[in-house]
Amino acid sequence: MNLADSELVGGILDSHGYAVTADLTQADVVLLNTCAIREHAEQRIRGRLGLIRAQKRTRPDLVVGILGCMAERLRSRFLDEERLVDIVVGPDEYRRLPLLVENAVAGEKGVAVRLSKVEDYDDIVPLRTDGISAWISVMRGCDKFCSFCVVPFTRGRERSRPLQGVVAEVRMLLGRGFREVTLLGQNVNSYRDGGNDFTDLIRAVAAVSPQLRVRFTTSHPQDMSDRLIETIAVSPNICKSIHLPVQSGSDRILRLMNRTYTVDHYRRLVERLRRAMPSVSLSTDLISGFPTESDEDHAMTVELVRAVRFDGAYCFKYSRREHTKAWSMADDVPEEVKGRRVTELTRLQQSISRERNEAMVGTVEEVLMEGPSRKSADDSVGRTDSNKAVIFPRRQEPPGTYLRVRIERANSATLFGSVVQHASFEGMTI
Ligand code: 5AD
Ligand code: SF4
Repeated sequence: MNLADSELVGGILDSHGYAVTADLTQADVVLLNTCAIREHAEQRIRGRLGLIRAQKRTRPDLVVGILGCMAERLRSRFLDEERLVDIVVGPDEYRRLPLLVENAVAGEKGVAVRLSKVEDYDDIVPLRTDGISAWISVMRGCDKFCSFCVVPFTRGRERSRPLQGVVAEVRMLLGRGFREVTLLGQNVNSYRDGGNDFTDLIRAVAAVSPQLRVRFTTSHPQDMSDRLIETIAVSPNICKSIHLPVQSGSDRILRLMNRTYTVDHYRRLVERLRRAMPSVSLSTDLISGFPTESDEDHAMTVELVRAVRFDGAYCFKYSRREHTKAWSMADDVPEEVKGRRVTELTRLQQSISRERNEAMVGTVEEVLMEGPSRKSADDSVGRTDSNKAVIFPRRQEPPGTYLRVRIERANSATLFGSVVQHASFEGMTI
C-alpha cells in the first residue's frame, strides 16, 4: 500500500518538475512515507530520521517531510518531537505537497492531515519504474474498525476508485510491458463503483489481456462472495492465490478483535475456496498476544494453522495503538510470551510451507519470469501463479516471458526447477 502511495506522490511531484534520486546526498527534499500499523514500524522511521539528521546538519536547506499514516497519527506533534522535520502530510493530502515543499524552502513549516471522504487520486498517474509487476490502489481507507487496528483512523473512510479509471491504468501498464497487476485495498471485497462490485472490477481487469496476471489483496473473510470465488476459479489469468487474514483461531479473541466472523465460518470459507480451486494457495496474518489471549486461545490458533495448512503466514506481536478500541484494554500479555507464541507459529508455518512446497516437486508450473536471480548470476527468478518464487538456470528471454518450469527441489520459501518450454495462451505461443 505504501509503495503504491509513494508512486502516487512521485507522480504528483514529477508533474511539478521534481525528479527522483536514490542518493540521499543528492536530494534537496527527503520524504519518508511512513506506516503506523505497529510500534516497530514507527521505531524504524525514528531510526531513519537519525540518518537524515546528520545530512541536515551539513545542509540546513534540506527539506524533510513525513508522509503517510504516522504523519496522520502524530500530526503537529511530529514537528515538536523531531525538530528536523519541515512538513507532515497525511494520506489524503498529497496533492498539497508541491505547495508545502515550496513553503518549506521559504522557511515555513507545514502540516496537512485532513482526511477526505472522496479523495481517490484517480487522475494521478503514479511514477513507476518500468518492470513486470505493478501495484494498483483500487480503494482507500477502511470502515471495518477491527479493535486492534489504527488504519481506519490514519487512512479514513472507505472509498473506491471508478472501475473505468482502474481499467484504463491497467491498459496503459500492459502497453508499457507490465505483465502482472495487484489490485490493492484494505478490504477489496467492499469495493463499489455504482452498480459494480469487486467481482465486476476484477473481471474487467482480467479481460484487458490474457497475458496479464491479476492478483489482489486484501480480502476480509466475512465478505468473500461465491460470485468472486467462482470468478477467480474460472478466469485463467486471475491468480489462484489468496491472502485471507484470520488473526486468531479463538472465537473469544476474534469477538474482542471485532473481526465479525467465527473460526467455523473461516474454515468453511477455506473449504469453499479449495473445493472451487483445488490448487489455490492461501496465506494469512496472525496476531499473538492480543489483550487477554491465554495459552488456550493461542493453542486454538496453533490448531487452526495445523488444520488449514496455509502456504504462508505473517505472524505479528500485538502492538497497542492509540485511538483504537483495544487501546483501552490492558496490554496484559507479557512481551516474552508474545515473542514465544509468534516464534512457535512462525516455526510451525515454516515447516508446513516447506511440506506444501515439496509436494510441488515433479509438477510443471507456469512461471512469469522476472529477471536475473539476486543471489546467483547463473540463475533467473520468476513466480508461479500461486505467488511462489522459482529459481531456474538463467534464460535469455526478456523479463515478462511466461515459461513452463518443472519443479525439482523446494524449501520453505523458494522452489527450484528447470525450464521445459514457453507457456502458451489459448493455443498461441507467446
Ligand atoms: N498489532 C499487531 N499487528 C497488527 N496488525 C494490524 N494492527 C496490528 C496491531 N495493532 C496486523 C494484522 C493485519 C496486518 C496488516 O497487520 O494482522 O492483517
Ligand atoms: Fe485494519 Fe481490520 Fe481494516 Fe484490515 S479490515 S485495515 S485489520 S480495520
